[in-house]
Amino acid sequence: MTAPRRALRTPQRYQLNKHAIALITADHPWIFRDQLSTAAAALADGQWLALYDGLNQIVGHGIYQAEGAVAIRVISRGPERPTAASLGAALDAAIERRAGLRAETDAVRVLHGENDGVPGVVIDVFAGVAVVQTYVPGTRALGRWAAGRVAERLGLATVIEKPPRRGRGAGAAVRLLRGAGPLPEVVGFREGPLTLAANPSTGQKSGTFLDLRGLRRDLAARSLAGQRVLDLFSYTGGLGRACEHAGAREIWHVDASEDALVFGEAHHAAVADRHRWIEADVFEWLPALDRAERFDVVIVDPPNMTSSKDQVPRVLGAYKKLYRTAQRHVGERGLLIACCCTSRVTRNEFRKTVGNALGGHFELERELTPEVDHPVRFPQADYLKVLIFRRRPPRS
Ligand SMILES: C[S@@+](CC[C@H](N)C(=O)[O-])C[C@H]1O[C@@H](n2cnc3c(N)ncnc32)[C@H](O)[C@@H]1O
Repeated sequence: MTAPRRALRTPQRYQLNKHAIALITADHPWIFRDQLSTAAAALADGQWLALYDGLNQIVGHGIYQAEGAVAIRVISRGPERPTAASLGAALDAAIERRAGLRAETDAVRVLHGENDGVPGVVIDVFAGVAVVQTYVPGTRALGRWAAGRVAERLGLATVIEKPPRRGRGAGAAVRLLRGAGPLPEVVGFREGPLTLAANPSTGQKSGTFLDLRGLRRDLAARSLAGQRVLDLFSYTGGLGRACEHAGAREIWHVDASEDALVFGEAHHAAVADRHRWIEADVFEWLPALDRAERFDVVIVDPPNMTSSKDQVPRVLGAYKKLYRTAQRHVGERGLLIACCCTSRVTRNEFRKTVGNALGGHFELERELTPEVDHPVRFPQADYLKVLIFRRRPPRS
């Protein structure tokens, strides 16, 4: 409990203008840089703030971030300082909201940052292991404290801290905060009918992409008996594992990360000879693929290719080219699954871009909604889109 208390005791006073106050009043958890007055230049990255209105009343508390479009992440509203008790209550409520997932899986994102009322901190749990990561300067102590509380509440033996994505400590080593022995390289978990694995110590994200559970669930429940699958940007092949469960006879995984493919081959190929692991840059490999190759399911899940809004037009151009090339390889009545994992591209922009790239040859069969453990509390948090298209029958 002591770690966040120090930061909570010393918030710096900061006066908001009316635009920023309007956001707080509307319960938005972000204040954008262009809504700040110039006095913000004196603030330190990661500084905890008491936020004042023009009448000298405290309207909330937040954390200042020196870089990027978001300048202040709101921790609490109203005059009361956030306390270990109020943050603990947010954490407990987040755990409770996910209770229904337990029957399906023992791998859950227990805390999803400001969407769960604890800005800057994500905690994923895989069986008995919690992985904490912070993405806002000034939240590291809060993250460690939150992970300790999650471990106590859920009876977890191991807590791993991945280094913060930005600010002090970025690039530091992965640390064991709780538990003994070496850092776990492989943690198995169950998800519906699937047995999967994550590498929390050196894998991407917290070790795997928990947010794709909805797509794994969808694929595993289909009948893909005897079908061919092409999984582009496959990472460790969790989606391919779901397709194997559904009966697919041949699954090609393509990714630029050798480590991810080696891990996938070791842990996500229950029937090894149905899988082919291809290390390649998809943007070069796909255009060079034999035009005659046809698959029943083509999955396209590119990485987040934007770090600012002005890159969006370029990214939409790259998506269009990618999806146009990918659809050539979808067989008769086959599926094309289009994913996008950046909130800088809106849902409408993504639907429109993929729709244009597919040129009327496909119909949208299903659009997945975010999983319960990846709540979307405000429009800018809506980062993951998954569209499932089916090729229309040829016109007679
Ligand atoms: C959003 S993740 C994919 C997650 C995956 N669908 C899963 O089920 O876990 C994006 C993946 O793209 C890979 N990647 C990034 N750039 C790439 C490129 N140019 N060519 C191939 N793979 C790339 C990364 O290694 C990462 O595994």
